[in-house]
Amino acid sequence: MDIEFVTVGADLAEKTALALIVFEGAPLSGAAAEADRQSGGALSRALESARFTGAKGQVLDVVAPAGHKAARLLLVGAGKAEAFDDIGAEHAAASAYNAVKLSGVATLRVAFGDAAAARPERAALGLRLAAYRFDRYRTKEPADKKPSVTKGEVACADPDKARAAFVDYAALADGVAFTRNLVSEPANILFPAEFARRVKELETLGLEVEILGEAEMAKLGMGSLLGVGQGSARESQLVVIRWNGAADPKAQPIAFVGKGVCFDTGGISIKPADGMEDMKWDMGGAGAVAGLMHVLAGRKAKVNAVGILGLVENMPDGEAQRPGDVVTSMSGQTIEIINTDAEGRLVLADALWYCQDRFKPKFMVDLATLTGAIIISLGNDYAGLFSNNDELSENLLAASKTEGEPLWRMPLPPAYDKQIDSMIADVKNTGGRPGGSITAALFLQRFVNGLPWAHLDIASTAWKKPSTVPTLPEGATGYGVRLLNRMVAEKYEG
Ligand code: BES
Ligand code: MN
Ligand code: ZN
Repeated sequence: MDIEFVTVGADLAEKTALALIVFEGAPLSGAAAEADRQSGGALSRALESARFTGAKGQVLDVVAPAGHKAARLLLVGAGKAEAFDDIGAEHAAASAYNAVKLSGVATLRVAFGDAAAARPERAALGLRLAAYRFDRYRTKEPADKKPSVTKGEVACADPDKARAAFVDYAALADGVAFTRNLVSEPANILFPAEFARRVKELETLGLEVEILGEAEMAKLGMGSLLGVGQGSARESQLVVIRWNGAADPKAQPIAFVGKGVCFDTGGISIKPADGMEDMKWDMGGAGAVAGLMHVLAGRKAKVNAVGILGLVENMPDGEAQRPGDVVTSMSGQTIEIINTDAEGRLVLADALWYCQDRFKPKFMVDLATLTGAIIISLGNDYAGLFSNNDELSENLLAASKTEGEPLWRMPLPPAYDKQIDSMIADVKNTGGRPGGSITAALFLQRFVNGLPWAHLDIASTAWKKPSTVPTLPEGATGYGVRLLNRMVAEKYEG
């Protein structure tokens, strides 16, 4: 969607819906009062015969108001004025888009009834995020099922200022869309080498991208990651993305590591058929890291950052690893494979070790659709945070609040660590059902070499079906990109 910022009174083009964001219980004021006047009281009359209170998410749609140039006037509820914030602006604009996207209008203009509350660049971000759509495999979609709105306008007091403030948010929206595209792609299209190729294309943004194949990983001793991919016809890949935006190109980097299982059948410990198609998005962690690097480059962040993607496909063929196998990781630690479906931690074990060994970063944050158990613990809105470092955790939690990507800290009790002690090797890859997300995180902790580290288990949030958040269309969410970008911007730049 194209975004423009315009002045409050600017002329309306044909086929434009004018959305007025209003607060709960407040009388129509500012632009909303003006629109009511221009339409000879159409909004006031509509309010008399509607149960519209201005509560969050409510939309009142008045079609073809007499005396007004707009094709539609919408009142969009933004909740109580005192509680209105940046996320509220995004959600209100997104709700307006969702209400008219199929209506036939070509342009949506969002205006704030009470201009003092305006957050125009965030409203524009809300439009961009809500308008995302993955439709490349639809060849027969009827025209009336396709969104008609192709342009978003945000009316505000100072369009130049809003336009300037939006630049970084546009980069953010681009990065989130990049992640959502990767996550939405089916596994026959997006296998490890194709994922790596798409990331390599980001070099045009100024990123440096290296791709390691199986031979190079074997040389490095990555028996843990390679074991996961050995039952697949597709070659495993390790992708290293670098953004050097700090004044000192040699300054110590920060690092992000993503689980990129392009498809997770479970391997020999094969998953049940029901819902297995969802395992195409088992690369959501790597997708988020790639999207984050896209944003950092897009907005030229003043930081040195490394993104590492462990890309594999977990398949069960005659070469596949078996339960009971023992593999040797790059760290030298041996791992007994109890369940080949606990593969994400095996990929991350080598990716994390490689990351700290090569880059000695300030910290590492990994993202992974790691466990079904995190969905049982936290439900479908919160991702789980596991960390050996309180400061890093606080920074992540603060960013999660500002960006509206819910995150909840989970414990890493040393006593549970013995659940993953093996009879014959240094560690085993499952710790039984109790605390399944915790023992998965404890497993990862054995491969961070004591560095400040945080693990985000995003199995609960990488995909939303159905969605209850107006800025998240059904499907891939891009969870993690916003929160990590915010944390970098506020704590690690300059
Ligand atoms: N990719 C799955 C986790 C997952 C489950 C993500 C559901 C999204 C939705 C992961 O590789 C897995 O299979 N984990 C197992 C671990 C178990 C074998 C210890 C799980 O959660 O059941
Ligand atoms: Mn699995
Ligand atoms: Zn998996």
